[in-house]
Amino acid sequence: MVDLRVNLGSLTLKNPVMPASGTFGLEHRKVMDFGRLGACVTKSVTPKLRTGNPTPRVCETDAGMLNSIGIPSKGLKHFREQVIPAFAAWDTPLVVSVSADTVDEFAQACAELSVPGVAAIEANISCPNLDADGRAFAMSARDTTAVLAAIRARTSLPLWAKLTPNTGDIAAIARAAEDAGAEALVVANTILGMAIDVHTRRPKLGNVMGGLSGPAVKPIIVRMVYQCARAVRIPVIGCGGIMTGEDAVEYLLAGAAAVQVGTASFLHPGAMIAVIDGLERYCAEHSISRVDQLTGAVVVDNQLSERTLRDAIQL
Ligand SMILES: Cc1cc2nc3c(=O)[nH]c(=O)nc-3n(C[C@H](O)[C@H](O)[C@H](O)COP(=O)(O)O)c2cc1C
Repeated sequence: MVDLRVNLGSLTLKNPVMPASGTFGLEHRKVMDFGRLGACVTKSVTPKLRTGNPTPRVCETDAGMLNSIGIPSKGLKHFREQVIPAFAAWDTPLVVSVSADTVDEFAQACAELSVPGVAAIEANISCPNLDADGRAFAMSARDTTAVLAAIRARTSLPLWAKLTPNTGDIAAIARAAEDAGAEALVVANTILGMAIDVHTRRPKLGNVMGGLSGPAVKPIIVRMVYQCARAVRIPVIGCGGIMTGEDAVEYLLAGAAAVQVGTASFLHPGAMIAVIDGLERYCAEHSISRVDQLTGAVVVDNQLSERTLRDAIQL
C-alpha cells in the first residue's frame, strides 16, 4: 500500500495529480471519475466577458502543441452560479484559476470567487497586465508582489500563483510570490513560441504567437521547478509535458510536491488517471511507502550554487 497523500500548505490532497488549467472541464466527467483526482482545477475565468482569440487557436508541433486561445470567459456570475456548484458532486478540492487585466480587477475577482465550494484560488499571473503595457504580471518581481499582495488582502482562501516560464529569473519571481503571501506556486504556464506554414507563408496561429506545451517543454520546466524549490519554502506544483507516472516522478524528484497534467489529456482524455496509477506503481516497485518522500529526492553529486543556477540560463 502506497500513501499518495500530499500536503500543499493548508490543503491535504488524496494524491498529487490534478489537471492543468484550461485543459480540463466538466465534460471530462464522461471519461473519468473526478473523485480519483488530487484536485480539480478550472479553466481561468476572467471578470470581463471575452470571446477569445482569432482562429486557428491551436496547432501541433514536434513533441508538443502551440495554443493561443485568449481565455474565452462567460464572467464571474456565470462561473459562480453554473460551474462551482457542479463540482460539488465530487469529494475533490476545487481550485479556481483566475486571470484579470489589472491588479485591482484581479483582487476584486478573487474576492468574488471566494465562495463555499472553492478550496483554493490559482492566480494565473502569466496573463497580460494592462497596467504595464500588457507585460505578464509574473515577468517582473515587482508586479508579482503587487498583484499577489492585493489578492492576499481580499481573500482568506489558500492562494496559489501560476508563474510564467518566459521570465529570465524564475527563482526571483518565486521568492516575490512567496513573500507576497502565495501558499503554493504552479511552475509553469506555457513557453512563448511561433510556427509558420511554409506553403502559405502564414503563421499557423491566428494570433501569430502562442504558448508551447507538451513533452517538448518538460526539461525546461523540470529545471525551473528545481530552481524554484530551492528558492522558496512553500510547495511547488510542477506543470509541463507530463504524460506518464514516471514524468510525474521526475517532477517530484526535482522538488515538486504535486503535479498538473495538461496537453496529455488532449491525446488521452484518461491520462491523469494513468499518471496516478503509474506513480503508485513506481512507488510500489521502489518500496516507497509515501509519495511525499520523493519530493526533492533527486541525487545531485555536483551541488550547483545559486549563482551557477542563475547563470546557467545564459548558456
Ligand atoms: C489549450 C490550452 C489552454 C490553456 N488554458 C490555460 C488557462 O486558461 N489558464 C492557465 O493558467 N493555463 C492555461 N494553459 C496552460 C496549461 O495549464 C499548462 O500550464 C501548460 O499547458 C503546460 O502543461 P502541459 O505541458 O502538461 O500542457 C492552457 C494550455 C493549453 C494547451
